[in-house]
Amino acid sequence: MKKVAILGGTGNIGEGLARRICLGGKFDVAIGSRGADKAQAAADGVCACLKERGCTETTCTGGTNADVCSADILILSLPFERIQSTIDTIGKSAFENKIIISLINPMVRNPGEKYFLPDQPAEGSAALAIEKMLPASAKLVCAFNNVAAGKWMELDEELDYTVAVCGNDEEAKAAVKELVASVSKLQPLDAGPLAMSNVIEGITPLVITIAMRNGLKDVGVYFR
Ligand SMILES: NC(=O)c1ccc[n+]([C@@H]2O[C@H](COP(=O)([O-])OP(=O)(O)OC[C@H]3O[C@@H](n4cnc5c(N)ncnc54)[C@H](OP(=O)(O)O)[C@@H]3O)[C@@H](O)[C@H]2O)c1
Repeated sequence: MKKVAILGGTGNIGEGLARRICLGGKFDVAIGSRGADKAQAAADGVCACLKERGCTETTCTGGTNADVCSADILILSLPFERIQSTIDTIGKSAFENKIIISLINPMVRNPGEKYFLPDQPAEGSAALAIEKMLPASAKLVCAFNNVAAGKWMELDEELDYTVAVCGNDEEAKAAVKELVASVSKLQPLDAGPLAMSNVIEGITPLVITIAMRNGLKDVGVYFR
């Protein structure tokens, strides 16, 4: 069984992400955290959920962010501004030749007005900046950026969205598409090279703004 590690997997999105990936039945999950105990507690919660739902195919474990880096695919599920220090703490060599997913969308809320704007770094996107922080052999792919946050934990509902997947390594992209397709009804779509991450990351502040201004909840994207 392939394993996916979620660095920062104790956070808002990590909780639902871990459950959904395990429930997909095709990947084990390791939750990473700065604190091993915190990760273990989060993993215990996922295991309890799997038991409750009769899912016996997959498991979830917890460890420090460094501990979980032996997994086949690493998901960076941290605020953008914490990525550099997290890579430094773990050690860059842990990321050599790894398939790494960024779902990071830097954004800023306009104070007083109901809208969010992308807040991307000088490189053009979080993913392009992260690519520079990683070893050259790491294969960075963007995926899951635009899945409505509130939906991850609503496990009785299908996640019925398309997921734009971009990256420069075709094999890594294929592996990430396989992971995306294993989750609920998510449909991966090839969105081209990593340079497209600028657009993909920018969709999230757009859909949040649309939700806020139109009385909608958990707006997602379906390309068709
Ligand atoms: N939430 C969403 O709706 C959503 C949707 C799509 C994409 N995203 C993207 O997903 C990423 C994670 O979002 P989130 O809302 O899950 O984030 P979050 O809950 O704020 O943080 C995730 C984890 O980051 C770790 N962390 C916090 N401060 C840290 C620090 N100083 N150094 C190292 N680790 C630190 C914490 O883990 P430990 O304390 O266990 O170490 C925390 O549980 C973001 O980049 C966001 O843009 C979020």
